Amino acid sequence: MSINGIPVLEDLPSVDGKRVLVRTDFNVPMADGVITDDFRIKAALPTINWLLDHGASVVTASHLGRPKGTANPKYSMDAVRTRLAELAPGVELLENLRFDPGEEGNDPAFVAQLVEGIDAYVDDAFGAAHRAHASIVGPPKTLPSAMGRLMQKEVAVLLGMRNDPKRPFVAVLGGAKISDKLGVVEALLNSVDALVIGGAMCFTFLAAQGFPIGDSLWEPEQVDTCARLLASGKTIHLPEDIVGVDAGGNYATFGIRLPPGAKGFDIGPGTAAAFSDVIMDARTVFWNGPMGMFEDERFANGTKTVAQAMADTKAFTVVGGGDSAAALAQFGLDGDVDHVSTGGGASLELLELGDLPGLAALRAAPNAEANEAASP
Ligand code: 3PG
Repeated sequence: MSINGIPVLEDLPSVDGKRVLVRTDFNVPMADGVITDDFRIKAALPTINWLLDHGASVVTASHLGRPKGTANPKYSMDAVRTRLAELAPGVELLENLRFDPGEEGNDPAFVAQLVEGIDAYVDDAFGAAHRAHASIVGPPKTLPSAMGRLMQKEVAVLLGMRNDPKRPFVAVLGGAKISDKLGVVEALLNSVDALVIGGAMCFTFLAAQGFPIGDSLWEPEQVDTCARLLASGKTIHLPEDIVGVDAGGNYATFGIRLPPGAKGFDIGPGTAAAFSDVIMDARTVFWNGPMGMFEDERFANGTKTVAQAMADTKAFTVVGGGDSAAALAQFGLDGDVDHVSTGGGASLELLELGDLPGLAALRAAPNAEANEAASP
């Protein structure tokens, strides 16, 4: 049953009457102690329910935020525990794993504490599978282990798109910094038919082409890299008009050249229409990163237009988590794409490298194919 050598739930020994530790990614957005989106909690339910239906008692564990190894009430799991109890009564949830420095430090003593009294381990925390932390890479060293249903779907969709996309395959990338996404941009350039660049990262590309960008956000140290990517011979679509503010702070639409003191905060309407056409003509589209500062209504048009094209195109559409998923939800379009990944960093790293520490750990578990074949 295993997929790519990674055991799935059916590969576990019987869980009837057993205690199963499920690593989930319940790192949900919160405001004033209230969960603003429970998407990640709901996404773990198919796995939790499968285990309950098969007679297991389920202990879930997650991180929340970045408390950096100390207990901090601001990052307590209480609100998540309350919501989980409504969705899956009787399921335990441990306190925030990152309250203990052993989690991020991958300390064997913390792993031992986590697996105490546990019979099997399931990793359904796709959003954290790029972290080699104790709760992710530790338990599969000793316990029969499997990936959960969410992890299974994420891996199938993202690796399928990476390795065998229907063409034309287009990647739409936005967000502030090219340096954050350089690895994935380089990897995607090898496999996509076209790359579409928006968000503040476009200004480093425009600067590399010699256009004046005013006072827009950019990364001077990445200009040479952007120039090299532009010279790769691949199709890279960049903005041709920009929306932002002029030197006096007034809302303005510019062509490709920004005057001194101007700041760009969104792609312009002509660019949004052109990007939308590229998405409509594709057969596979991956989108990660907003086209502009969409939290401000004046600068939301580019992101909204791209989101609408993602919803309207007949292409197979995948949205990397984080801000682009939040934008889709804000525009009410999250149900109109084929897959919204629960992982931001994890989805990018899987596309870049084709593997993640969390997956590698499961592939080496005692019940994984590789070890079964090796045992007498
Ligand atoms: C996420 O929200 O992307 C995951 O939960 C990982 O969180 P981290 O970036 O703090 O490790």
